[in-house]
Amino acid sequence: MGEYRLLLANVDKPGSHKLEVYRKAGGYERLRKALFEMKPDEVVEEVKKSGLRGRGGAGFPTGVKWGFVPKTDLPKYLICNADEGEPGTFKDRVIIEKDPHLLLEGIAISAYAIGAHEAFIYIRGEYEYGARILESAIREAEEAGILGDNALGSGYRIKIVVHRGAGAYVCGEETALINSLEGRRGHPRLRPPFPASKGVYQCPTIVNNVETLASVPFIVEKGGDWYASLGTEKSKGTKLFSISGHIKRPGVYELILGTPFDVLLNELAGGVRDGRKLKAVIPGGSSTPMLTAEEVEGMTLDYENIQARGSQLGSGAVIVMDDSTNIVKVVWRLAKFYAHESCGQCTPCREGTRWMVQILDRIVRGEGRMEDLDVLLDFESIMAGNCLCPLGDAALGPLISGITKFRSEFEAQIKSGRCLV
Ligand SMILES: Cc1cc2nc3c(=O)[nH]c(=O)nc-3n(C[C@H](O)[C@H](O)[C@H](O)COP(=O)(O)O)c2cc1C
Ligand code: SF4
Repeated sequence: MGEYRLLLANVDKPGSHKLEVYRKAGGYERLRKALFEMKPDEVVEEVKKSGLRGRGGAGFPTGVKWGFVPKTDLPKYLICNADEGEPGTFKDRVIIEKDPHLLLEGIAISAYAIGAHEAFIYIRGEYEYGARILESAIREAEEAGILGDNALGSGYRIKIVVHRGAGAYVCGEETALINSLEGRRGHPRLRPPFPASKGVYQCPTIVNNVETLASVPFIVEKGGDWYASLGTEKSKGTKLFSISGHIKRPGVYELILGTPFDVLLNELAGGVRDGRKLKAVIPGGSSTPMLTAEEVEGMTLDYENIQARGSQLGSGAVIVMDDSTNIVKVVWRLAKFYAHESCGQCTPCREGTRWMVQILDRIVRGEGRMEDLDVLLDFESIMAGNCLCPLGDAALGPLISGITKFRSEFEAQIKSGRCLV
């Protein structure tokens, strides 16, 4: 049970980003099938059957989300979330840069399924190269008549526009993204209403991650049942994992959900580097609680198994830490990230993330007090569930898990009075 390349099948081919290469591998035939042989509702049905869950982090069933789009005459919009801001996550980038037409085909099919004629790709500002690749792929597809006013001669109009972000992590949150796309400040919106009923320009809008949308062509081609035959009971299909940290071969690997973590860590990523021992793993991006080496023993890479161990699959960004890692510094560094990225709109997140950093600063400087640890743990009761968007909760992930699981390290740091920087 090793790699299983579905989304990554084309990425190593020379010129994989070009339309000609994509078409040779059967590209855009799935769009043709959807437009000519399927009604939009049938596409939604197949995606529901497939069990595909959103790959942006929350894992919400994609077909169910599409089903929330109301039947109205208002225009509908599809947004591809290519903000990829979660620390440790770099999987969408591979699709964007190496197989942009797969993403465009997925977007076009999904737009058709929800009745949208316009789709946006909201891409993080730092992905300059990726944005240019996408723009030229869209041009190629429009010139070939695949996208545009009369997609593949079907009479269905599909326009895809690339929109660049400006470097704010919170703009990956779907309602902040919508505000930013509309030219407003990138602040998350209060929900309800959810974007499916009132999103861009107050119209029904579906926001999906790059990897989610890139999975759709395979569901149309091979059927929802086929896709659902891969994986576990609650985790269907394949998933991209970006693995980084203290390993020999960092990179992006595609696995069938339910594959043992050991396969990713040792067979594919080459194991912990320099003969050191595994200390901790952040399994799904920096917002997901870290797990100890003991806790990942026997773990399988799927939503339910990681959740049963007290963390989440998240975006599939696995960060591996060996026994040279100072967990106090990890928690401090990540707390600084969340404090910097908090949009400041709601008090528990704005104040909580800042106070976290101030207390951790003191501990790192060697001026901490033992009672600081319980004060830090108390942030959970202040922030969890009390913030307007999930960023506030996300900031708690590394803090609470780090202190709870590695408390003795924090205590030793406080006792030592040593400055760590
Ligand atoms: C602070 C924050 C940042 C996020 N960043 C991203 C991101 O970079 N990419 C992404 O796809 N989803 C991100 N999300 C999740 C989105 O809000 C949304 O759930 C997702 O785009 C839905 O797509 P999916 O159902 O295909 O996963 C973020 C959420 C939060 C709270
Ligand atoms: S939780 Fe934080 S990032 Fe989210 S809206 Fe509130 S202040 Fe902004």
